[in-house]
Amino acid sequence: MADNIHPIFDRLLQRGDRERRLGQRSKVLWFTGLSGSGKSTVAEHLERRLYNEGYFAQVLDGDNIRSGINNNLGFSPQDRRENIRRIAEVARLYLNSGIITLNSFISPTRQIRAMARGIIGSEDFLEIFVNAPLEVCEERDVKGLYQKARAGAIKGFTGIDAPYEPPLRPALEIRTHEQALEACVDQVFDFIAPIIRYE
Ligand code: ADX
Repeated sequence: MADNIHPIFDRLLQRGDRERRLGQRSKVLWFTGLSGSGKSTVAEHLERRLYNEGYFAQVLDGDNIRSGINNNLGFSPQDRRENIRRIAEVARLYLNSGIITLNSFISPTRQIRAMARGIIGSEDFLEIFVNAPLEVCEERDVKGLYQKARAGAIKGFTGIDAPYEPPLRPALEIRTHEQALEACVDQVFDFIAPIIRYE
């Protein structure tokens, strides 16, 4: 072959090449639910479980996204939309790297989640509704934010004075107030395992 010819198909690795190397199918698990519903807790335990089972997965959540790439965004409807848009783009990069992401964001409206689905692609976007009633989340009040929202110290808090629209047809629903954490993690793992298995 002539010295100066560099066929592009030799250079461009495909997602399938990386999936083969990692021995898994990449997907985006999109956890949605109220603050305090248990999204991040389930995602973190699932990440560990996937790791132990030999999978390569990464949690994306408010702590690592809102303090970094999205540290200029607040909680207005526009900022939440931009928050989710960027996260979906980041998840898409991981997807194409063959990595499974566990995305844990309130993503409060159907429109916002439809945008994320559009960026990621319906085939790869698995919506998981982390369903705990508002009363339960408020009772847990892990971060003390519901109390502040009720007192008016935080405006536009999801579930109090900003909307949360539950998914109509999630791929999976987990009810964190009705079963223990381990059972929730098992439920998601059992759902996802056949989808990410490489064969
Ligand atoms: S989203 O609406 O843009 O998807 P995201 O999941 O990134 O929200 O961040 C939610 C977290 O930010 C909550 O769990 C809570 O700790 C904190 N937070 C601070 N202000 C608000 C607010 N006004 N509404 C909801 N969550 C808030």
